[in-house]
Amino acid sequence: HDPIKDLTVQEQSNLISSLPKREGWMRVLRRYQGFWISDVAIPRLMAIQAHFKPRPTDVILVTQPKAGTTWLKALAFAIVNRSNYSFSQHPLLSRNPHECVPFIDLPYVGGHAADYKSLAQPRLLATHIPYSLLPASVADSDCRLVYLCRDPKDVLVSLWHFMKAMKPEIMELSPAFEMFCDGATPYGPVWEHNLEYWRESLRRPEKVLFLKYEEIVAEPMRSVKSLAEFMGCPFSEEEERDGAVEEVVRLCSFEKLSSMEVNKRGVGLMGGVTIQQANFFRKGKVGDWVNHLSRDMAERLDRLVHEKLNGSGLTF
Ligand code: A3P
Repeated sequence: HDPIKDLTVQEQSNLISSLPKREGWMRVLRRYQGFWISDVAIPRLMAIQAHFKPRPTDVILVTQPKAGTTWLKALAFAIVNRSNYSFSQHPLLSRNPHECVPFIDLPYVGGHAADYKSLAQPRLLATHIPYSLLPASVADSDCRLVYLCRDPKDVLVSLWHFMKAMKPEIMELSPAFEMFCDGATPYGPVWEHNLEYWRESLRRPEKVLFLKYEEIVAEPMRSVKSLAEFMGCPFSEEEERDGAVEEVVRLCSFEKLSSMEVNKRGVGLMGGVTIQQANFFRKGKVGDWVNHLSRDMAERLDRLVHEKLNGSGLTF
């Protein structure tokens, strides 16, 4: 897609209101360049498409919302900065992971645009933007992308709870399920999002690392080590002997992060919306969908996802 440059605010708003629309989640979604994006996020996306230039050393963490963004931010931050901080006095003990790794597309820290130009090298940045909607400067650059996805059933259940916590009057789970199956979730369809990064990770494995939430839960130490290697800062034998990998896993665990004061009672700003940090920590389990989706719903979604991913080599 060619970036849309230099539209006036009025032209932008006319363009957005002409796009197909779905309602029911927290924000109105518009179908933009093949994906469903919240109407407030589209101007930011256009700005990124027109202006964002990664540095070759950047590491961009990409997720579908609710696939484990907060966890991935914590892990990557703890790994990259492990020589700068002791684990007993770590920024992650007093700051929410979203304050440590900014989204490229959201004003976040204290409500101001994140000053990511001054971040330490390598810069850690995050986004939910689908691969085909990223500016060409990302594919053309040597920067690395870490992609994290999750069983779509758990993504749906997590997304619905997150939005319900923020906006109690949002739709019930059953219409949310229908919209999810139509692909109409923020940055959805989920399977298209997954597939684009999956294919890119096969094409450029040295630049795109593809991770699954379930794999990190099953083998956290292994995941942390491969994440460190991919980001260009592998753990030395000595560090491994001294338990640095375990320290990272422990510091970033659901139990540890969710028990911290900042994550229990802290408040943050995301895209101009006030968010209780506690909303980013619900259960942190694999397969919680079983407590919310009927067997029919689960089978239908599994079938749909299976069909969509068919032949790609990607499975959940
Ligand atoms: P649940 O709602 O299933 O509990 P995101 O960070 O992309 O918004 O995703 C939030 C999901 O990740 C929530 O899932 C949340 O509980 C889970 N999560 C947050 N921190 C985690 C951690 N440290 N380890 C594992 N899961 C975590």
